[in-house]
Amino acid sequence: MRHNECADAKKMLVDKMGINLKIADASDRFLANLAGKTDPEQKRKIIGNTFIDVFEEEAKAIDDACAATGGQPIEFLLQGTLYPDVIESISFKGPSATIKTHHNVGGLKENMKLKLIEPLRELFKDEVRELGRLLGMDDELVWRHPFPGPGIAIRILGEVTKDQVAIARKADYIYIEEIKKAGLYRQIAQAYAALLPVKAVGVKGDKRTYEQMICLRAVETSDFMTADWFDFPAPLLKKISSRICNEVEGVNRVVYDISSKPPATIELE
Ligand code: XMP
Repeated sequence: MRHNECADAKKMLVDKMGINLKIADASDRFLANLAGKTDPEQKRKIIGNTFIDVFEEEAKAIDDACAATGGQPIEFLLQGTLYPDVIESISFKGPSATIKTHHNVGGLKENMKLKLIEPLRELFKDEVRELGRLLGMDDELVWRHPFPGPGIAIRILGEVTKDQVAIARKADYIYIEEIKKAGLYRQIAQAYAALLPVKAVGVKGDKRTYEQMICLRAVETSDFMTADWFDFPAPLLKKISSRICNEVEGVNRVVYDISSKPPATIELE
């Protein structure tokens, strides 16, 4: 998850929408399963499988509690899969190659016991946003930038460790905070900071540093199938870069990704 995301999601879903939510913190298990893994597709599969294992265990615990009081067992897993996730994960009716195994499409376990429901599976993001607006959902939810199923792990290139997660989260938080302060959040379809595990030389104070890089990504798109990089005002990029280098330990360089999709994709892995 992103920085503070569990608490924010809880606020939105429980406090604002009255949903009965149980949060399972399985971060140590995800990190243990990802240890030493660097291949993007392998990372995606491990995260998808771990997610379902945790989900089934939690569902069983709720089932057991329900059974004790005569309630119904849990049958379904509801996911917010969108059409681009489907197109890019499977090739159906034609030669479109698998680009990435989207966690919520091809990354799920084959022997999963829960039945899957994906009501948004044939909609694009702009259609989902319109639906949310029509249903009177909170603006903050409707305009929230998408976050990939496999989470921040695919925004940390190479091995995912607790320390790397902390760096990526902090940089991402600063980046999004500055975008919101500048009033640009809704003009951008998706923005995030990724951690590149390459080191470069720098200088902080009077000391030499040899630290990693943060890659900023921001795109404009309506369907997420193609995308253009967002043209930030240079002073804002300067401010973001300076804040990240000063406030995030272990980072001495910030780069801005100026690749469109295609040939790049929106996420780095
Ligand atoms: P890409 O990187 O393929 O991303 O250009 C297109 C959109 O899909 C999101 N994305 C995912 N969403 N599960 C999801 O629900 C996933 O596994 C996944 N991978 C990428 C990505 O954030 C972007 O909005």
